Amino acid sequence: MEKVNIAVLVSGGGTNLQAIIDAEKSGIIKSGSVKLVISNNSKAYALERAKQNDIESKVVLRREYGSDAEFENAILQALEAAGIDLIVLAGFMSILSPDFIGRYRDRIINVHPSLIPSFCGKGFYGLKVHEAALHYGVKVTGATVHFVNEVPDGGRIILQKAVEVEEGDTPEILQKRVMAQAEHIILPQATEMIARNILFSGR
Ligand code: GAR
Repeated sequence: MEKVNIAVLVSGGGTNLQAIIDAEKSGIIKSGSVKLVISNNSKAYALERAKQNDIESKVVLRREYGSDAEFENAILQALEAAGIDLIVLAGFMSILSPDFIGRYRDRIINVHPSLIPSFCGKGFYGLKVHEAALHYGVKVTGATVHFVNEVPDGGRIILQKAVEVEEGDTPEILQKRVMAQAEHIILPQATEMIARNILFSGR
């Protein structure tokens, strides 16, 4: 059966990439296959995960290019060379330009570690999101998978899952719980949903 070619863009540890790889192995993701991992950080442990699973990877460093546009062009070239249909941002810590997003309209999804519209947008990434949630004192947080449009964290929501905040939580403890109880579950589910839609709607 034909499958959608998936690229996962990463910057760090890659636990969400791992969740996608595991979901493909277990059959939760069956309409697509991860063909390429792109990292904007050469030290990202996500690269090791790609290697361990025989997935092609590419490091694209912003500092090696003269402009944001050239940096994005290098990413676009790698995506095109691999025939990518669906891009999953899994802890990718760089905001993509409207031009880039326009080329993959409704074909880019992102996981964010809060219940959007809380604690999202420019400046809210990684641990900062959980620090803000604890500072505000919310009792429930969670994760969201959404389409990427020109507004940071502003695209149509695909899936959300709530997670309880517990007494004594630190940002690190809360981050781990949100990953385990929400992100690592809904990101593979949303990836399958969108890959399946692409298969049925044609490329
Ligand atoms: C995840 O919690 C992801 O939701 C978050 O970064 C972490 C990456 O972890 N992304 C954002 O904050 C994007 N705004 P991982 O590398 O282990 O998947």
